Amino acid sequence: MELKDFKKRIYIEDLHQQLGKEVIIAGWLYNKRSSGKIHFLLVRDGTEIIQCVVVKGQVSDEIFDVSDQIGAETSLLVKGMVSEDKRSPLGYELQVSDIFVIQAPSLEYPISPKEHGIEFLMDNRHLWLRSRKQFAVLRIRHEIISAIRDFFNERNFVLIDTPIFTPSAAEGTSTLFATDYFGMNAYLTQSGQLYAEAAALAFGKVYCFGPTFRAEKSKTRRHLTEFWMVEPEVAYFDLDDDMKLAEDFVSYIVQRVLAQRKSELEILERDVTKLKSVVSPFPRVSYGEAVDILKNNGIDFEWGGDFGGSDETVISEQFDRPVIVHRYPAEVKAFYMKRDPEDDRLALAMDVLAPEGYGEIIGGSQREDDYDALLKRIDEHQLPREHYNWYLDLRQYGSVPHAGFGLGVERVVAWICGIPHIRETIPFARTIYRLSP
Ligand code: 4AD
Ligand code: MG
Repeated sequence: MELKDFKKRIYIEDLHQQLGKEVIIAGWLYNKRSSGKIHFLLVRDGTEIIQCVVVKGQVSDEIFDVSDQIGAETSLLVKGMVSEDKRSPLGYELQVSDIFVIQAPSLEYPISPKEHGIEFLMDNRHLWLRSRKQFAVLRIRHEIISAIRDFFNERNFVLIDTPIFTPSAAEGTSTLFATDYFGMNAYLTQSGQLYAEAAALAFGKVYCFGPTFRAEKSKTRRHLTEFWMVEPEVAYFDLDDDMKLAEDFVSYIVQRVLAQRKSELEILERDVTKLKSVVSPFPRVSYGEAVDILKNNGIDFEWGGDFGGSDETVISEQFDRPVIVHRYPAEVKAFYMKRDPEDDRLALAMDVLAPEGYGEIIGGSQREDDYDALLKRIDEHQLPREHYNWYLDLRQYGSVPHAGFGLGVERVVAWICGIPHIRETIPFARTIYRLSP
């Protein structure tokens, strides 16, 4: 073989169509074991890992020596016959006839199958991505993002891309990343919502989907400084409609991953029985009822505060699927939320809490649609009015009830994968401690 034979390569995931035929695969050596006269090379190509069997006498001595010497992450072409192997998860293996080494690392590959500390792995994230577990997590992330787009596209929502540079806060002024913008202050967006509201009044039902930024100094396993959020927004929609959309959305995502990413969930040893029960409808409890749940579980919680991560865990542990908590005290929620006409202390807000201690995955609300009430809130929150004039305009020209929510992609990936920390759910995580690689 020679280098240009990579142009004839067939992806490992497609080899089931090639049983009994000779093929070329192009990849990297993942791992290997030997038993004297046979080398078993595990080769990955990004789609799958396949076992390649090199038998002394069936290849030239030179090729047998090559397969004896090559180390982990050597890039190579392997030629061989595809044969059935009922014991492997893939169902087939390769009987090798030839190997062409493209680049052999001169250093030992730093990530060995033995245990490494998390900081070491995060420092080597550019290489860690090649490992089996990361492969599974990020392929599931890909499936979740496809499901998100399909869900809204199938329902005729219009995708509206909202800006990342913004002149003012969407969520709260304390968590903004500021940057110089030709002599003006600009902030990296915390949420596309305010712009999505403008678009909902133009297109009826819309969603935005992009990276969002929070400068809060949270060190928890649920917080990133840069994360991806999808935010639907619908005109002529109230809080009940919003909760229904949220539960249908979350069920759709989970059921899609169960159907399409079985082998990745197996790699992660995920207990899928806990995901199978994630179907609409989800239980709903008011904030007041949630406070009672905490008290009944011996937690000293005062009405009026926001729930912390451990409170959310106790609440969600009462249910076998995500739970929707609605009508929070307005004090702990954002300025744009509409007050409950039945109780002015409450906002028409809702959070979806994931089971198994994963906490809030969705935050949403019905929006304040009355001009005077919204202006009052903007002043109460001491937000600079001049930056919100356009947002107030939406309440001057054909205002209607409208609602929406935001779902944090990484928290959903962590929950569905069953991994404890959010940092492994995004290819290159940004936290208060980490800006590289
Ligand atoms: O509850 P949040 O702050 O809501 C909003 O931003 C609204 N504007 C959404 C809307 O109504 N259109 O954030 C929404 C979700 C949270 O439920 C959580 O899943 C995720 O975004 N999230 C984070 N994920 C990772 N790291 C962080 N620091 C996050 N902050 C919020
Ligand atoms: Mg929230």
